[in-house]
Amino acid sequence: MTTGEQSGTGRTEYAGVGLGEEGLAATPFRQITRWVGEARARQQEQGDVPEPDALSVATVDDDGPDVRTVLMRFLDARGPGFVTNLRSTKGRQLEVRPQIAASLTWPSMFRAIRFRGTAELVERAEVEAYFRQRPWGSRISAWASEQSQPATGRAQLEAAYAEYAARFPDHGRPDDVPVPEHWGAIRVRADRVEFWAGRMNRLHDRLVLTRVTPGDLDDAGAWRLTRLQP
Ligand SMILES: Cc1cc2nc3c(=O)[nH]c(=O)nc-3n(C[C@H](O)[C@H](O)[C@H](O)COP(=O)(O)O)c2cc1C
Repeated sequence: MTTGEQSGTGRTEYAGVGLGEEGLAATPFRQITRWVGEARARQQEQGDVPEPDALSVATVDDDGPDVRTVLMRFLDARGPGFVTNLRSTKGRQLEVRPQIAASLTWPSMFRAIRFRGTAELVERAEVEAYFRQRPWGSRISAWASEQSQPATGRAQLEAAYAEYAARFPDHGRPDDVPVPEHWGAIRVRADRVEFWAGRMNRLHDRLVLTRVTPGDLDDAGAWRLTRLQP
């Protein structure tokens, strides 16, 4: 992977190695895990991929589209998943309209993966196992924050945190804090996955896999490959 050059006009040349049909892994899942693995490794080695798991998540409601960034906390052959407050704006939007889109973007690697599909809840057992290994303070905040609701000020948040910290003291155990009922995880069950690789002169590679029969991301026969113009 070469690095981009900043030209005199302030434009970055995307000098990535690209992605050809022949270089694509046998299934979308294997291609996703390959790129995610390479992004995480690059952050470890070169430090220029901060938050390689940052996932932009788009939803839609009657006012139109909405987007925010979360962290990808689950990834399996069903799709990427993230934890959140299920009563948050995104949680409520997805309950009404489960259509969802998401993207992982690694600018320093000239790569992005884009997902479109349907939101579904991650199984409770998985959510609980994940919650228990979060730091105690994060588990307290899951109780203290009515995510997406207005707050009167910072003091309100600090007071709510103190209240739950007193209610569920830190004994250093994973079950010190119960999992709030309103806290959970959402999976993007993808029907379409695009691998974008930036190349010289804006002649980028875009390989799109569209689900054509039932099957998960690791089922080679369920997906049709299309190259899109950049
Ligand atoms: C790098 C980064 C990581 C984030 N991770 C999460 C996350 O994993 N879950 C979450 O609910 N919000 C996360 N947030 C906050 C969200 O962007 C957003 O503010 C919040 O979920 C409320 O969104 P909503 O009102 O649309 O529901 C993160 C923000 C950033 C910038």
